Amino acid sequence: MHVLIVGGGGREHALAWRIARSPRVHRISTTVPNPGILALGGERCATDPVDWAVSHGVDLVVVGPEAPLVEGLVDRLEAAGIPAFGPTAAAARLEASKGFAKEFMDEVGIPTARWSSHDTAAGAHAAVDALGGACVVKADGLAAGKGVVVASTAAEAHRAVDEILGGRFGDAGARVVIEERLQGPELSVLALCDGRRALPLLPARDHKRRFDGGRGPNTGGMGAVCPPADVGADLVERVRRTVLQPAVDGMAARGTPFRGVLYAGLMLTPDGPKVLEFNVRFGDPECQPLMLMLDEDIVPLLVAAAAGDLPQRPLQWRPGVACCVVMVAGGYPGVYPRGMAVHGLPAGDQRDSHDLVVFHAGTREDMDGQVVTSGGRVLGVTAWGPDLAAARARAYEVVPTLRFDTAAWRTDIGLPGVQG
Ligand code: AMP
Ligand code: GLY
Repeated sequence: MHVLIVGGGGREHALAWRIARSPRVHRISTTVPNPGILALGGERCATDPVDWAVSHGVDLVVVGPEAPLVEGLVDRLEAAGIPAFGPTAAAARLEASKGFAKEFMDEVGIPTARWSSHDTAAGAHAAVDALGGACVVKADGLAAGKGVVVASTAAEAHRAVDEILGGRFGDAGARVVIEERLQGPELSVLALCDGRRALPLLPARDHKRRFDGGRGPNTGGMGAVCPPADVGADLVERVRRTVLQPAVDGMAARGTPFRGVLYAGLMLTPDGPKVLEFNVRFGDPECQPLMLMLDEDIVPLLVAAAAGDLPQRPLQWRPGVACCVVMVAGGYPGVYPRGMAVHGLPAGDQRDSHDLVVFHAGTREDMDGQVVTSGGRVLGVTAWGPDLAAARARAYEVVPTLRFDTAAWRTDIGLPGVQG
C-alpha cells in the first residue's frame, strides 16, 4: 500500500513510524518534510494532497492535524474515491466549534461543564457574573489551543471576554463560550471510530502547562504518559459508554457519521468524568506514547475505520507504560528562536527501535542536510518501560544527550500526582 500522511509534526512522525512498520505498506508520502518521516522513506508530496493521491496511486490518506479536516480535505478525498482516515468537515465541527460541541453534548446527554455562548460583550459579561467569576472563557473557533482562559477571578474573566470578542483570535473569537470551572485530574481518552462504533485506545495524560508542577502558560503539550497509573479499564469503559459511543451515535443520527479518531479531553470530577473538549484527531503528544504501546498493525485499523467496519474486539497493547518528554525551544510558547542545529540524534530511521524513539516535531533539514529547529516543540523523546518509573528513567536519560541551543523541557512528565 501507498499511504499519504498529511501534516508533519511529532504526531505525524509517530503515525508514520507505526505505519512504516506495517508489512502491508511499501510507500509513504508526506505533505511536510519532517526529517523523521523522510528517514522512514517518506516522499515529499509537494502538490495538493488530493491531486497527489489520485496521480500517485495512494491507497490511504491519514490526516494528522485538525485544520485540513475542518476545511473538508476528507470530503474532497472521498469525492475522488480515495480512502481517508479522518472525519468529514461536518463531523469535524465537534472540534471546529466549541458552541456546536456543547449544544451537541447537551442534546445527547454527554456530561460536560455548564455553559453559555455569546456574540455580545454584555451577554458574556453577565454570564461571567452569574458564575461568580471563577469560570473558563473560550473563543468559539479554532485558536491553536490558545483561545482558552481558565480564570480565577472575575476581573480576569471579564478581561478575557473583551480580548476574545475584541478580535485577538480573529473570526475564531466572534463568539465566546463561558463555562463553569471544573476541578479534578485531566485525562485524554481517544477512540477509533467507524461511523457506528467507538473503539477506545489506552488512556493517556497530556501535560499542557509549560513549567513543572503545572505552572506557567498553556502549550500544545509538553509531554504525555500512557496509560496513567490512576486510570483503570473500568474508567475507560465508563468513558466509552457515557461519552464516546453516545457521541458516535449522535453524529450518525444527525446524518454526519464520525469516522477517524475522536478525542475526549476529560476532567475526572467527583461527579464522574466530564468532557472539556472534543478533538477530531490524535492528540499531540498523546499519539507518541500511544504508538509505542500499540501492539498490532495499525494500517488495517485505519482502513477499517475509513470503510466503516472496525473489528468488534479490544485492541492489542503492550504491557507497561510509555512516556513522551517534549523538548522545546527557549521562549516557547511565546517568541522563540529557530534554525538551531540539533545534535545527538539517533542514526537511521528508528523503525526497529521499540523502546525508545526520538520523534521529530519542529525540525527540518537545512541545505547541508543538517537537522535544525523549525518550531517551538522540537523533539518528543518517547520511551517504553515495564513500569512508569522505568519509562520515565529511560526518556530522561536520553533527553540531555539531544542538544540544541536554548533546549528546555519539563522534568516531571508522568510523575504521580502531577497535574496540568
Ligand atoms: P480546551 O482547549 O477546551 O481543552 O481547554 C484547554 C485547557 O483548559 C484544558 O486542558 C483544561 O486544563 C482547561 N479547561 C478547559 N475547560 C475547563 C473547565 N470547564 N474547567 C476547568 N478547566 C478547564
Ligand atoms: N495534546 C492536546 C491536543 O492535541 O490537543
